[in-house]
Amino acid sequence: MSGLFSPIKLAGVLIPGNLFLAPLAGYTDKAFRELCLEFGASLVFTEMVSAEAIARGNEKSLRLMERAPGEEQLAIQIFLSSPDQARRALPALLSYNPTIIDLNCGCPVPKVTKTGAGAALMRSPNTIAEIVRVLAGATDIPISVKIRSGWDSREINYLDAAEAAAAAGASMISIHPRTRTQGYAGRADWQHISKLASEVDLPVIGSGDLFSPEDARRMLQETGCSGVMFARGAVGNPDIFQRTRRLLENGTTTEAMEGTARLRLGLKHLDKSVRYKGERNACKEMKKHFGAYTKGMPGGAAIRNELMRCSTYQEYRSLIETY
Ligand SMILES: Cc1cc2nc3c(=O)[nH]c(=O)nc-3n(C[C@H](O)[C@H](O)[C@H](O)COP(=O)(O)O)c2cc1C
Repeated sequence: MSGLFSPIKLAGVLIPGNLFLAPLAGYTDKAFRELCLEFGASLVFTEMVSAEAIARGNEKSLRLMERAPGEEQLAIQIFLSSPDQARRALPALLSYNPTIIDLNCGCPVPKVTKTGAGAALMRSPNTIAEIVRVLAGATDIPISVKIRSGWDSREINYLDAAEAAAAAGASMISIHPRTRTQGYAGRADWQHISKLASEVDLPVIGSGDLFSPEDARRMLQETGCSGVMFARGAVGNPDIFQRTRRLLENGTTTEAMEGTARLRLGLKHLDKSVRYKGERNACKEMKKHFGAYTKGMPGGAAIRNELMRCSTYQEYRSLIETY
């Protein structure tokens, strides 16, 4: 299967491989991104950051754009609804020196779409183009756009959106081929990824229903996309990057980590998180990750219940070490 793992070249940027960590609100923080990079993720994305909040200097939002020490490349994803917001966010955004600036056109959450941002942009390819033009006109940093297949089943317009973005200067397109109405339910329609990859003259990154190395291989083979983006499939499974690379390069892979090894990985994740967020926040936020680290584990429910009661690093650690 060699040949499926390959670098992605954008103007001025060489991404060393084609296995990405997707933007995931509430998950892809410094600690998790750093862990995924250690397991071989080729490129990682911040969660979506409000351009309006960036422009206003909101500290919490600015912090989302900070890099972990070993993070040489970082794609920063922003959400916004107008070229003016892009213009106002640019000075602060550029001061974080993103490797790639990614425009969110996929968030289905009403709080976001009712402002015209996220998936609402799918209804206006012209606005996508105007925003991309402002960003691409202000910097040499590559601009990428993450789209859905459309707003709903009557408005499947990903080709129009991608072509508008490409004509305005975008360098890469990611697609999660569900409509806004579908949210995260049902199956992602990978045929849309194939069509986009064959019609748009830019690297296309596929997203949707990637839960194993074999899923990633199948998406690359079936759709001809340039790269794939793990999302829910990487949560609790940062080793999926290493396993996928092995599968793409050698045709075989190792088993996913199990039991104690997986819990230890969770502890390593917690350790990083404590370093970046402080013990209190880290211990609270890691609960959702531990839910994922213990998923499908024999005796998982029992240990999960105990983990949910931990509030200090030491409590997590002694529980995991005696498991
Ligand atoms: C909890 C959660 C948060 C997400 N946050 C973002 C986000 O901030 N920006 C974005 O473009 N997509 C976001 N997504 C979408 C994912 O990046 C991905 O495209 C989608 O989950 C489909 O991939 P999957 O089926 O393999 O999970 C999010 C998805 C989930 C489940």
